[in-house]
Amino acid sequence: MSKSESDTVTVSIENAVATVTLNRPAKRNAMSPSLHLEMAEVLEKLRYETTSRVLVITGAGESFCAGMDLKQFFVDLKDNPPEFDRIFRIATEWRFRTLRYYPKPTIAMVNGYCFGGAFSIVEGCDLAFAAKEATFGLSEVNFKHFPGGSVSKSLANLLRPRDALFYAMTGRTFKGDRAAEIGFVNAAYPLADLKKEVMAVAQELAQKDPDALAACKDGYRFSLEMSAEAALNFAAAKSDQLTLRQKDSWRSEGIGDFLGGKYRPGLGGHEKAGPNA
Ligand code: ACO
Repeated sequence: MSKSESDTVTVSIENAVATVTLNRPAKRNAMSPSLHLEMAEVLEKLRYETTSRVLVITGAGESFCAGMDLKQFFVDLKDNPPEFDRIFRIATEWRFRTLRYYPKPTIAMVNGYCFGGAFSIVEGCDLAFAAKEATFGLSEVNFKHFPGGSVSKSLANLLRPRDALFYAMTGRTFKGDRAAEIGFVNAAYPLADLKKEVMAVAQELAQKDPDALAACKDGYRFSLEMSAEAALNFAAAKSDQLTLRQKDSWRSEGIGDFLGGKYRPGLGGHEKAGPNA
C-alpha cells in the first residue's frame, strides 16, 4: 500500500511494520476532517492486510499532531451540525475505539508537538515512545475550553488524577521525559534515536505470534472493563479461541519445544512466530 505525498495520511510498510504518518506538516499535523476520514480508511485497510504485523503512528516533519484542526473542525463546521456530528463520530471512533481494540499491536512514536486531541491517539495505542524534545500539552483550557471528545476519558484511563487535572487545568506544556515519568509514554529518547528505538520494539513484536499478541491486548483491555468473575471467564474463553486459531501450536510447539529442550521461553520467544511465519 503506498500513497501520494499530497494525502493527509501516508503509509509505508517495511519488514512487517506499517508506519502510518499524519501528513499535514505545514499545519503541524492538526487533524482536519479529511485526515480523520483518511485515517479511518487506512486503519480499516491495515487491519486486514497481511504484510504488516505492527503499526507505528507518527507525524510528518517536526510535529506529532497539534490536535484537532481548530479552524476546519470547530469553526468551519459550526453551522453544520449534521456534518460536525459525522466528523466528530469518525474522529472519536478511530482514536478511541478502533485503535484501542485493534487486532495488531500499535505504537505511537511522538516526534514533536502533541496537543489536545492527539492525547487520544497516544492513549489509544498499546505502547508509546516520545522524543525527549517533544512538547505535550492539554491546551484546551488556554482557549477557554476543556479536554472534550474522548480526551478526558483518555486522561482518566492513563494518568494519575493529580497529573491529569494539573495539566488539564493549567494547560502547561511538558517534555518527553516528563511524559515518560508520569506514564503517558513508555520511554523518551533523544529525537535522533527515537525511530531506531521504536523500530526495535516494533520488530520484537513482529516476531511474536500475532494471535497471542491479539489475546494479550484483549485480555488486558477488556479486563479493565469487567468484574473479576467476568474477566476470568473471558480469559478462559479467550484461551480456547487462541487454541482454535493457532491449531494448538502454543501447546504443541510453544510448550512442546521447551519440554524438548529446544529453547527457554523465560529468556526469549519461540522461533516460529505463528501460522504466517
Ligand atoms: N488547528 C488548526 N491549525 C493549526 C493548528 C490546529 N490545532 N495548529 C497549528 N495550526 C496551523 C497554524 O494556524 C498555522 O497555519 P498558517 O501557517 O496557515 O497560519 C500553521 O499550523 C503553523 O502554526 P504556527 O502556530 O505558526 O506554528 P508554531 O510552530 O509556531 O506553533 C503550535 C505550533 C504550538 C502547535 C501552535 O500552532 C499551536 O498552539 N497550535 C494549537 C494547538 C492546540 O491548541 N491544539 C488543539 C488542542 S484541543 C483539541 O485537539 C480539541
